[in-house]
Amino acid sequence: MTETDTLIRGRILSFTAEPQGPDDTAAYRYIEDGALLVSGGRIAACDTWDALKDRAPGARLADHRPHLVMAGFIDTHIHMPQTQVIASWGAQLLDWLNTYTFPEETRYADPGLAAAMARAFYDELIRHGTTTAAAYCSVHATSAEAYFTEAERRNMAMIGGKVMMDRNAPDGLRDTPRTSYDDTKALIAKWHGRGRALYAITPRFAITSSPEQMEMARALVAEHPDCYMQTHLDENHAEIAYTAELYPDSKDYLGVYEDYGLLGPKALLGHAIHLKPREIDVFAETGSHPVFCPTSNLFLGSGLFDDAGLRGRGLVNAIATDVGGGTSYSMLTTLNEGYKVLALNGQKLHPLRAFHWITRGNALALGLEDRIGTLDPGTDADIVVLNARANPAMELRMERARTLSEELFILQIMGDDRAVEAVYVAGKRQKGSA
Ligand code: GUN
Ligand code: ZN
Repeated sequence: MTETDTLIRGRILSFTAEPQGPDDTAAYRYIEDGALLVSGGRIAACDTWDALKDRAPGARLADHRPHLVMAGFIDTHIHMPQTQVIASWGAQLLDWLNTYTFPEETRYADPGLAAAMARAFYDELIRHGTTTAAAYCSVHATSAEAYFTEAERRNMAMIGGKVMMDRNAPDGLRDTPRTSYDDTKALIAKWHGRGRALYAITPRFAITSSPEQMEMARALVAEHPDCYMQTHLDENHAEIAYTAELYPDSKDYLGVYEDYGLLGPKALLGHAIHLKPREIDVFAETGSHPVFCPTSNLFLGSGLFDDAGLRGRGLVNAIATDVGGGTSYSMLTTLNEGYKVLALNGQKLHPLRAFHWITRGNALALGLEDRIGTLDPGTDADIVVLNARANPAMELRMERARTLSEELFILQIMGDDRAVEAVYVAGKRQKGSA
């Protein structure tokens, strides 16, 4: 099938740096009547409509005026096998995991179920404007197969891995140090760097990995330095206390992952709420990334993430949904709850920085800013089109909006999947009729 070029017309917004404040116009490019020329799945040009309208005479036109055209959203922590766990009652993290999450994940040994749910999972991501995610699959290699197979079918840039977990979990949801190594190794060989897929070595968290399995994770990370490493950290006080019992020789929770050589710029540590000063030092020294999961942290009553404190130490924080502990696939809803979490900490999340965060900011944390997260020519054409008048309440509010920042803030606080007018993955339209 040959792909024709597409001209996407709309109000273009793309970030070139992290906005340092409400007036930091140098950090982004905004073109009121703008256009993107998309060719071969990439952005060939980003300019005014006038400059581009005659450049590709045969190009298909997608006119999205008056909506905003931005880079697709990036979710840096989500669980594919929790698509049917979201909104499950539970007291706190360990109770919620044992009661709902672990039993549900045992079902993903079934390749048919895994394939069906992978389809549903990607449908939700796309509906919500998310074009790249870093996901946890279940312990079963079949679930990672389903995850990457479906991503390949949709040509999506997806990061993921089967979780390694060999203890403190029910029958049917444990591997062994050896099988976790062998399965991960085989999945990396098959999927990492194939098309747009990237692999994340995924020891679930210290509680479900024995020291012997951590040794295997160490070997995998050493043997595959270009893969990601994702896990959970300092989410909940009971979790932290149990980890200290299981790993008495480590200095603290992050010390466990440090002791096994898992940290570095490719390491994504979900939650990272209750950090000790030494742990923050280790983040800074290793260049590892805390991942803020606001809807999940509120839902499970886990705590308030200290974004400004960590940024002040030079850390590059990512932001994510953490479905199914998280309660929405929407990165807009995630920004909304994130805004409130930070407000409780006396911090402010300005809309310019918020929209930078879920696009270029998360791409930076992933080291993928040359490929995704902006509308720069040469990058992959993963694009979202946003409508700030998506429902009557937003329409009323928009009547009083005067600036781009106001419009973005309305999307940040009131937006959800209804505000996602269209989505393109590698230049191909996935949501909204052509
Ligand atoms: N810690 C270990 N596994 C999980 C999980 O699935 N969700 C959350 N929120 N925390 C975890
Ligand atoms: Zn998680």
